Amino acid sequence: MAELFQPKKIIVTGGAGFIGSNFVHWVVDNQLDVHVTVLDKLTYAGNLDNLEAISEDRMTFVKGDICDAELLDKLFADTNAVVHFAAESHNDNSIADPEPFVRTNVEGTYQLLEAARKHKVRFHHISTDEVYGDLALDDPARFTEDTPYCPSSPYSSTKASSDLLARAWYRTYGVEVTISNCSNNYGPRQHIEKFIPRQISNILYDIKPKLYGDGLNVRDWIHTEDHSSAVWAILTKGRHGETYLIGADGEKNNIDVLHAILEGMGKDTEDFDWVKDRPGHDRRYAIDSTKLRTELGWLPKHTNFAEGLKDTIKWYEDNPQWWQGAKQATEAKYKAQGQ
Ligand code: NAD
Ligand code: DAU
Repeated sequence: MAELFQPKKIIVTGGAGFIGSNFVHWVVDNQLDVHVTVLDKLTYAGNLDNLEAISEDRMTFVKGDICDAELLDKLFADTNAVVHFAAESHNDNSIADPEPFVRTNVEGTYQLLEAARKHKVRFHHISTDEVYGDLALDDPARFTEDTPYCPSSPYSSTKASSDLLARAWYRTYGVEVTISNCSNNYGPRQHIEKFIPRQISNILYDIKPKLYGDGLNVRDWIHTEDHSSAVWAILTKGRHGETYLIGADGEKNNIDVLHAILEGMGKDTEDFDWVKDRPGHDRRYAIDSTKLRTELGWLPKHTNFAEGLKDTIKWYEDNPQWWQGAKQATEAKYKAQGQ
């Protein structure tokens, strides 16, 4: 384990999105002497309500683009570390229009790395297990830090590109980089374009849930709070230049997750529509997080998926004002794609 790094000021890019905002709340609640500056462009996926109730002495919000080199130069002059969540994050959107993915995920990460190099700022890069491609359903293997990169979608290929930039900036320029590749997150404040909140909000609107393909694709679910604690462990204790995989042994196929949502909301478990499959749809993701657990002593808290899902359903039931405004446009986009 590296010597403990104790930043007092951190920049969180994408801190108004789903995982970024959950991370900001986690830091504010658990690291009382750390000040967070959130840098977020507030795209369709960013929402300032995600950060409400955080006091100004703990957090500063800056609306801006990670591709804006001048802005980064100013912000990086006054920070110890950057945790980089900002991205275009949805596979289906990347298939419909890859351009913003290349810009934000690749060019944006490049600009951040350049600013980190200039100002000698510690850089933690948030990435995804999707950079490794997919596994067969009957393959006992799971992804490890040594699995070769093999991304399938425009989204995952831009995330893979950004990971490689981060690795190069460590090796060539000595930027103090760490990278984490996490599996599918669930929990409060996830945009309703994503699988779990889309189905919950469909049911609340009396729309039938939509299942792609044969429903057997497997995702390895982790509660977003566990993602946050893992990122903090890597930021403060991780070895520079290293990659850590984050996962909580949560493999489930989509049809089982959908059945659990329907059952949890008191509906007939077969009351859903089969829809067109996603082009290039990855079959299975599975994470072996042994390195993170043994080297940094991290453990997930949310090991009961049924409980976590119940709380997540309740959050969407209790906060309709948070998601209702986006529902019509989200479903119109899916309808145009036959999904
Ligand atoms: P999200 O789409 O909910 O949020 C993305 C945030 O980034 C939004 O607040 C948005 O406004 C902001 N943003 C987008 N472009 C920007 C730009 N050019 N400049 C500044 N801000 C910009 O995404 P998420 O699901 O919270 O994912 C966050 C990160 O975690 C991403 O890097 C994603 O690849 C990674 N990740 C996500 C998951 C998952 O299950 N959702 C799993 C593993 C890794
Ligand atoms: O694995 C990590 C990745 O997880 C992150 O890098 C991405 O940012 C995040 O969006 C997520 O990607 P997925 O494509 O796995 O998540 P999504 O919620 O879009 O879909 C999960 C599964 O559910 C996938 O197999 C497709 C399927 N699906 C999705 C939707 C929206 C459906 O069957 N029906 C749907 O309506």
